[in-house]
Amino acid sequence: MWRASVITIFPETFPGPLGASLAGKARQNGIWDLQAVDLRDHATDRHRSVDDTPAGGGPGMVLRADVLARAIDAVAPDADDRPRLLTSPRGRPLTQARVAALAAGPGVVVVCGRFEGVDERVIAARNLEEVSIGDYVLSGGELAAMVLIDACVRLLPGVMGKEASGAEESFSDGLLEYPHYTRPQVFEGQDIPAVLVSGDHGRVAAWRRAEAERLTRERRPDLWAAFLAAGGAHVSGAMPKKTTDG
Ligand code: ADE
Repeated sequence: MWRASVITIFPETFPGPLGASLAGKARQNGIWDLQAVDLRDHATDRHRSVDDTPAGGGPGMVLRADVLARAIDAVAPDADDRPRLLTSPRGRPLTQARVAALAAGPGVVVVCGRFEGVDERVIAARNLEEVSIGDYVLSGGELAAMVLIDACVRLLPGVMGKEASGAEESFSDGLLEYPHYTRPQVFEGQDIPAVLVSGDHGRVAAWRRAEAERLTRERRPDLWAAFLAAGGAHVSGAMPKKTTDG
């Protein structure tokens, strides 16, 4: 079973959305499990403090190294080979490739960052991998932990049907998804593109590929550049001439 342990000062926020839908069903089916651990249970003073003022001064509070180390050691002793992650806006950006690697392993231990930060010494001493879910700042790491775990869980064998693996391939080949349509045939005067109702599977595939390339080029120049650098194959006519030779 794939196991996620989350260390947080807000354990009551879990499972949250991870208890619903695909992830919730998969957990009920024993495909994965979630343990939310209250960091305060590992404090030693009677106020159950987990943070203190930053050395050197400045605003905010810093999570204490000793309290967090105790929590990590209780949740994931040395023999536990799960990667230990720390959600943080200064972490490496989470990618689908990293998610796939995590999903293929035994699970994750996620420390939810809080306050101004976490004492640097425990990050080193417990080998915490800092991960960011995007270039914006959340008020805490709990939502980031849920995002990370959700992205992993949907990849576990038996969680999603066949349709998902197709979508996965289309993202992991480095392009955004093509546009989708369904009934009615006309919506507020807009038709479904004729090619999609032509019954010509070859033309449908070519149109979708061209649209995926167009959307990626327009919205995500970073992904588009990586796609080109990786030698992405194009549907003929999908790419405007001006970008074909740099
Ligand atoms: N905590 C606060 N902001 C975050 C972010 N963008 N990613 C991960 N953890 C965070």
